[in-house]
Amino acid sequence: KRVLSVASEAVPLVKTGGLADVVGALPAALAGQGWQMRVMIPAYPGVLAKLAPAEEVWKTADLGGGPARLMLGSVGGVEVLALDAPHFFDRAGGPYADMWGDYGDNAERFAALSWVAAVVARDGVAGWRPDVVHAHDWQAGLAPAFLRYWGVAVPSVMTIHNMAFQGRVGAAKMAAMRLPPEHFNREGFEFWGDISTLKAGLMAADAITTVSPRYAEELMRAEFGMGLEGVIQARAGVVHGILNGVDTAVWDPETDPEIQPFSAAKFSAKSRNRKALQREFHLDVPGPLAILVSRLTPQKGIDLLPGAVADFVAAGGGLAILGSGDPWAEDMVRGLAARFPGRVGVKIGYDEGLSHRMFAGGDAVLVPSRFEPCGLTQLYGLRYGTVPVVAATGGLADTVIGASPATEAAGAATGVVFHPVDELALRQALRRLVTLHADRKAWAAMAKRGMKAALGWEASAARYAALYEGLIAR
Ligand code: ADP
Ligand code: GLC
Repeated sequence: KRVLSVASEAVPLVKTGGLADVVGALPAALAGQGWQMRVMIPAYPGVLAKLAPAEEVWKTADLGGGPARLMLGSVGGVEVLALDAPHFFDRAGGPYADMWGDYGDNAERFAALSWVAAVVARDGVAGWRPDVVHAHDWQAGLAPAFLRYWGVAVPSVMTIHNMAFQGRVGAAKMAAMRLPPEHFNREGFEFWGDISTLKAGLMAADAITTVSPRYAEELMRAEFGMGLEGVIQARAGVVHGILNGVDTAVWDPETDPEIQPFSAAKFSAKSRNRKALQREFHLDVPGPLAILVSRLTPQKGIDLLPGAVADFVAAGGGLAILGSGDPWAEDMVRGLAARFPGRVGVKIGYDEGLSHRMFAGGDAVLVPSRFEPCGLTQLYGLRYGTVPVVAATGGLADTVIGASPATEAAGAATGVVFHPVDELALRQALRRLVTLHADRKAWAAMAKRGMKAALGWEASAARYAALYEGLIAR
């Protein structure tokens, strides 16, 4: 049984966020369920080199302004179909933007990716044709849509990793995106007079998934649905919340090459990582050392930090931040480091290795998101005995058991969960963190509990497989 996974990023080829971790981990997880998953992504610069030797399995003289071909290769055991269309994807900036901002033709770029994915599902390439198409986020939303518009019987799944990004552009792009005008309507890809590729996928797919059960519920409401709540409500019967897992081969404190190894059984060895981390960030922290590894955007609640950190620092806490994103947020966290030397340290940028050292060395990981479809850093925190302090939303609420008199008495708590998402609640959560950390025995017990939680992909891979099976059986 074969499934084609279509996305704009995948580890280890290209990553800007959790989407890439998930798309990169699914093939191995589903192989264990008897499904052969191929991943289709654009051939950004450097991708083909990592797939070498790759073989050409399909080509066209013109894909919206230039020639294109599909290259089949593999990396780390994952089979990849890379769409090599230099006029769209061979650019010096990132996958979506360069230093001047988003590319003006993102709609055409990802419509082309989706169109080729649908062609692969319709015609097959080099003798391989998927039984199911699995599309991720707005970049792949038109893959289920083209299949539906063309009357192709291959079933499709649309996964929402983040409803905030909807692939919305003006209707003038319709022809350039190869969209059939007769589907410019409420049942199709039309959204308030514009085009939305995510909406198109949500309307056309046979099943919809989101990356946590709680986010699936949240999306039915206007606060989280961002205008598409009506679509989710209308299709509620085919919406499933399937939690992301952790790639435990990559995130394992016993074998991680970036860190001093430790485990729940040898928990005290974690302290060496804390010392190293303090050195790396020039910190000297008497109480709990919190970390934050994040895109610096409003989604992530970064703006709440200034109002909460002073109190935390006064109580003995410290904070190491790694992130990049909105300029105002980068300036703001730099300002915190300047205000609290020795207690708050900041590195602006993207650094995979450093993120591992932070998860190993931190006592706690902060995730104060306003909304969080799943969230991976709280999971990495749990796995590395770094207690999550999270907002009660989406996947954060589904994966962390907040400390309370009841959960502590039951020996069940794995972190601190706060609500609502505002400065006061975050300040109180950090105060709670300081108190919990002061009871060293209870603290270690809580951290080890998180380390032993089942966070791998097994359970969720079985749910995806069951979903696919249900679709092909129809
Ligand atoms: P999102 O996809 O919304 O950004 P997730 O929590 O799902 O949020 O995934 C974020 C991923 O990106 C995690 O793997 C996290 O460790 C990683 N990450 C975020 N910012 C950085 C950074 N500056 N350096 C290294 N890794 C980062
Ligand atoms: C999105 C979400 C994040 C989720 C990730 C992977 O980027 O913001 O919560 O973990 O996708 O599914």
